[in-house]
Amino acid sequence: MKIIGPFSQIVTMQNLALKGALVDDRLHIIEEGGVCINDTTIKEVGKYADLVEKFRGAESEVITNPSVLLPGFVDCHTHICFAGNRNADYASRIAGKSYLDIAKAGGGIWNSVDQTRQATEQYLTSSLLQRVEQHLHNGVTTTEIKSGYGLNVEDELKMLRAIQQASLQTHSSLVPSCLAAHTLPKDFPGNHQAYLHFIIQDLLPVVRLQGLAKRVDIFIEESAFQPAAALQYLNVCRDMGFHVTVHADQFTTGGSKVAVEVNALSADHLEASTEKELQMIANSNTVAVVLPGASMGLGMPFAKARKLLDLGACVAISTDWNPGSAPMGDLLMQAAVMGASEKLTTAETFAGITCRAAHALGLHERGVIVPGFRAHMQAFPTHDYRDILYYQGTMKPCKVWA
Ligand code: NIG
Ligand code: FE
Repeated sequence: MKIIGPFSQIVTMQNLALKGALVDDRLHIIEEGGVCINDTTIKEVGKYADLVEKFRGAESEVITNPSVLLPGFVDCHTHICFAGNRNADYASRIAGKSYLDIAKAGGGIWNSVDQTRQATEQYLTSSLLQRVEQHLHNGVTTTEIKSGYGLNVEDELKMLRAIQQASLQTHSSLVPSCLAAHTLPKDFPGNHQAYLHFIIQDLLPVVRLQGLAKRVDIFIEESAFQPAAALQYLNVCRDMGFHVTVHADQFTTGGSKVAVEVNALSADHLEASTEKELQMIANSNTVAVVLPGASMGLGMPFAKARKLLDLGACVAISTDWNPGSAPMGDLLMQAAVMGASEKLTTAETFAGITCRAAHALGLHERGVIVPGFRAHMQAFPTHDYRDILYYQGTMKPCKVWA
């Protein structure tokens, strides 16, 4: 058992509604606080002086500089298992070409598939680990990671094994998802529907048997998979015991309706959603995951996070970190910048990268500093929690516990 503190403030994220708008007065803040942890679990949270008194003789980690404690961040949507980069795509985009034009010309996702197929599992594991450690250093203690640059049985399994290997070599908590339905691979001898059928027959049973992922994702888009085929696919995946999530409404609508119909854990992107789709998601149990990093990487408007919250949705914020549309990968910076633009309260932005993001992954023991939850925490070098968004992500945590 160990007592950690004193912290100028602990922002516990306790007792916040799961859905809808949040005012900052609802933030539960303990001044001069401390945390008592038992191995990997939070045992007690309160005033530091009270904890020291109550647990006399316990080991202690004394914090000597003014610090604000927050839960570790949860990045619930990334594609950080890949080889190579797409700096040429990026240069074309900032020179005026569109993401979809680049994909049509043979670049885009397919470019990363090419490079990832050529990479060894060991290379994928070590380059993934570097990104995971960078995230951990920046306070992200849980990261979801998608496959989707293999697009055949061998290379999808290679990616998922690389994620599994990486998770054995880090204190960070990694959550794999199978995104074999990212786009129709050029070398597949059949149409979209046949490819989805192939994944169901030849890939997912192995993924399940080998415990490589419990989640399945699909990119629903005119340039990827159509809503009707995706709906069928996701229903089968659910019947196989997978949790499902959807890349929805990034450029055109259609995906969010499918997500709600299959009761997906989350519908991610939503940049193109209209009022109708936003309302539908807000009325459902599906978490709306907004991805400012993709908007910033593509030079496109943010998803309407303010509107979603006002309609009553559960909104999580994630990086979408990937080699194509979202190369930056800084969760706090992106959440802070989007929050400023969308007029999100501090409570809404913090919830979007802690407790609400954990909910998007179906994880209910992290994202809040409360007894019984995981001791995933981070301290920022300030005495006022408002500094964290004020510095727009340039203030990094000085200590991370995972
Ligand atoms: O979430 N939209 C589809 N997939 C990714 C991009 C992947 C890529 O461009 O490599 C996304 O933005
Ligand atoms: Fe994505």
